[in-house]
Amino acid sequence: MIRQRYKMFVNIGHSSPKVLLCRTISIATQTTKSSNEVTLFNQRYPIDEWTNISENIISKLGRNLHVAQYHPLSHIRKRIVNYFYAEFHNRNGNPVFSVYDNISPIVTVAQNFDSLLVPKTHPSRQKSDCYYINKDTMLRAHTTAHQTELISMGLNNFLVIGDVYRKDEIDSTHYPVFHQVDAVRLCTAEEVFQNVNNSDSLKLFEHRSLETNEKQACHTLESVKVMEHELKNTLINLAKSLFGPEIKYRWVEQYFPFTHPSWELEVYYNDKWLEILGCGIMRQEILEKSGASERIGWAFGLGLERLAMYLYDIPNIKLFWSTDTGFLNQFKVDDPNTAIKYKQVSIYPQCINDISFWLPEGTPYSSNDFYDLVREVGGDRVEQIILKDVFRHPETKKLSHCYTIVYRHMERTLSKREVSNIHEKVKKVAAEKLHVTIR
Ligand code: PHE
Repeated sequence: MIRQRYKMFVNIGHSSPKVLLCRTISIATQTTKSSNEVTLFNQRYPIDEWTNISENIISKLGRNLHVAQYHPLSHIRKRIVNYFYAEFHNRNGNPVFSVYDNISPIVTVAQNFDSLLVPKTHPSRQKSDCYYINKDTMLRAHTTAHQTELISMGLNNFLVIGDVYRKDEIDSTHYPVFHQVDAVRLCTAEEVFQNVNNSDSLKLFEHRSLETNEKQACHTLESVKVMEHELKNTLINLAKSLFGPEIKYRWVEQYFPFTHPSWELEVYYNDKWLEILGCGIMRQEILEKSGASERIGWAFGLGLERLAMYLYDIPNIKLFWSTDTGFLNQFKVDDPNTAIKYKQVSIYPQCINDISFWLPEGTPYSSNDFYDLVREVGGDRVEQIILKDVFRHPETKKLSHCYTIVYRHMERTLSKREVSNIHEKVKKVAAEKLHVTIR
């Protein structure tokens, strides 16, 4: 999700990046906010007049929805990573992109802004736009914050996936925490022109040239065009691999302080154009400062929530934070490519009851028959049926199943009495029709 304010200004001076790559040692984020410091991931930070993180935002640290098993954001993450693994490999067939999905969201202001040439006066730095821990430290506002440190480590192709934090209005598509995937690909002249015969005269860089709409001053037009072509192809094919070959899309020119030229990709969805990512040719100054001056690079950043909302028909971004099994279990599939359309969950509370029985001996039994029967008896008041436990008696060798039935109504709160009446009826009918013995 690319917000307006990253785009506007032209780039002016910046200081050199001071960066640290820290790993999240995250259990629950136990926070102690004394008068002059705050503890996050077991690390103490002094607070000052810049501090503006709230308890609610702190409570989101360490949730890591993008790697939570079966979470829709995790399915999309896997699909994107798999796409990059399949699309870019070396002569031995090994993937060339390395993936970082576990970098702490606590970054320095230098990482988030200065290292990316974001001007000191850029509106995206305002206290009203970001979550500051103190004047030097913040919750990253984009995963692009890790670009320079990873390039400095010697990486040429990588993906960074994680939670990002921006102060914003809250509506159906905006939430102060969301998830991004950033990518960087750096190429040598040999790699850029590998498909060109007699490419010896083709160069990545030229001197005495000026910046134009099409390129930075230092780049040759031919190197930029080849990179632009690969970048756009990669992203269109990624979008097609997620949404199908028929998607309608368009490129829109854009401005980012850290890329030039820059574009946004928009896809047509529900009768409107939806922006899903920002990308561009990386500012050569960033590569130079990170020790990769002999290469040219492309980069992009995309928002996972937007893609997931589009793909699964999820109507509200808040739902991603739901711990309601009515939401989560709809995505409980091992194959991330499974087509899923989200069905709205009731806002009324769930009522959960277990049932255990011995399976019949002699007559065949299948769980599906039981599911049918529960639906027949409980109708729309049944939200989920989960096979919770299978047990074989060590002596009698009889098999027992235990199911959890989640009851919930779409329009009202179910009373305990009503649920227990249905549940008793389920037991009775199961015994009669399926010949099970209730335990
Ligand atoms: N970081 C940008 C954003 O969040 C997206 C972006 C990443 C654009 C990399 C260009 C290159 O808005």
